[in-house]
Amino acid sequence: MTIKLNHTIVHSRDPRASADFLASLFGLPAPVPFGPFLDVQVANEVTLAFLDAEGMEIQMQHYAFLVGEAEFDQIFGRIQGRGLKYWADPGQKQAGQINRHFGGRGVYFQDPSGHLLEIITRPYGSFDEI
Ligand SMILES: [Fe+2]
Repeated sequence: MTIKLNHTIVHSRDPRASADFLASLFGLPAPVPFGPFLDVQVANEVTLAFLDAEGMEIQMQHYAFLVGEAEFDQIFGRIQGRGLKYWADPGQKQAGQINRHFGGRGVYFQDPSGHLLEIITRPYGSFDEI
């Protein structure tokens, strides 16, 4: 099977702010302009292409990232250091907490446009190590 997700468009109120937010929070290279987009690429070569919503109502999307334990520490440290709100659950009820699903750690937070981002150290369905 050679089909891989290659890129997705992230509609943003301010694409520069959103792309910089993600790149700096995750410790990724600076966003790269490509046409009307600001591209941020993650390790499995998926590009998040930030695009100005140009006044359109932004439909909240959910983007989840699998990270290593050390990366979780770094990213979560930045989340806390910046005073961002975070939740243990996608319903955003368990504020100020992380979850321990599948024997790992997970946390949800919002990007500047209100998209719900998630970092996890174990993929969903990793029942073997619970
Ligand atoms: Fe998720």
